[in-house]
Amino acid sequence: MKQRTPVFINILIIIGLLIVFYYLFVQSYEFLGSPYFWGTVVISCILAYIHSAIGDLIENNKFKRLSPEEKAAYLAEKKTPYFTRLYNAAFKKQSAAEEKDILIDHGFDGIMELDNQLPKWWLGLFYFGTAFCIVYVAAFSFTNFAHPISEYEQEYKEQLASIEEYQKTQPPVTIETAKYSADNIAEGKELFKTNCASCHKEDGSGGIGPNLTDNFWINQPEKTLFKNVFHMDWNGSPTNPAMRAFGKNGEVSGAEIEKIAAYVYHINQELPPVTPAQGGAAPQGTEAHWEKE
Ligand code: HEC
Repeated sequence: MKQRTPVFINILIIIGLLIVFYYLFVQSYEFLGSPYFWGTVVISCILAYIHSAIGDLIENNKFKRLSPEEKAAYLAEKKTPYFTRLYNAAFKKQSAAEEKDILIDHGFDGIMELDNQLPKWWLGLFYFGTAFCIVYVAAFSFTNFAHPISEYEQEYKEQLASIEEYQKTQPPVTIETAKYSADNIAEGKELFKTNCASCHKEDGSGGIGPNLTDNFWINQPEKTLFKNVFHMDWNGSPTNPAMRAFGKNGEVSGAEIEKIAAYVYHINQELPPVTPAQGGAAPQGTEAHWEKE
């Protein structure tokens, strides 16, 4: 007759599984303070005790029908502590006599196959994995619970809302309020790459549009370089429609132009000009005498 798992082990396993599943659905350990969780624990413990009591009754009945030797063997085994028994069951090697019982009736080259039972820990993991898989696939297919796509959409909406919120409190950047800041150069460079590089080249050395690294400018509507670039990017060129009004059109925002203008200021004032000999476009317009920012 087989020994039974002690009830406290069952209860520990049940509590462990409950914590795992509660955590899966709540996604935080807040449930540890919830009466629902502890209610489930208490009910599970009562059920485990009832299960164990019924098991005791069945065991007593079976015990009565054992032969005296079997009874003695059973009682002796019952004295071994549960974990020792578990360890033995998991790692015990078969004796030669036991091996004979599970030998499968075929072999080759002296190699024989044994019909071993699967280890308990393996079976346990297998059943747990299967149950988990069913719950997971069902949740993934039919609910929004922890679903990557719905989580992504949710986060996306929240981010759009927070951008809108930010822009409401943040006054729009205009040519009057825009200021040069070295912190904007890196971001400005990226914006310049996407919006302007097709005509002015990535380094601003010019192509379809003029060279922005030299000191010659066709358009000089403002007194300072930074404002001049802002002005051109917002309003476009009055004479050449190729340089369109990116700001007025709504293609780039005032805050973005503030960054782009910082980048253009940087390549014009803080880096040496890209001369025609270095592949830059030839100077166009007249020499500029910018006022200090
Ligand atoms: C489709 C091509 C094109 C794109 C894209 C473009 N530009 Fe221009 N840009 C030009 C042309 C052409 C001129 C010359 C305008 C003129 O002759 O008045 C110009 C002129 C300018 C000027 C004034 C230069 C001067 O010498 O007067 C600035 C500043 C400028 N662009 C900045 C930008 C910025 C910043 C962007 C990106 C937001 C940009 N441009 C995108 C074609 C372009």
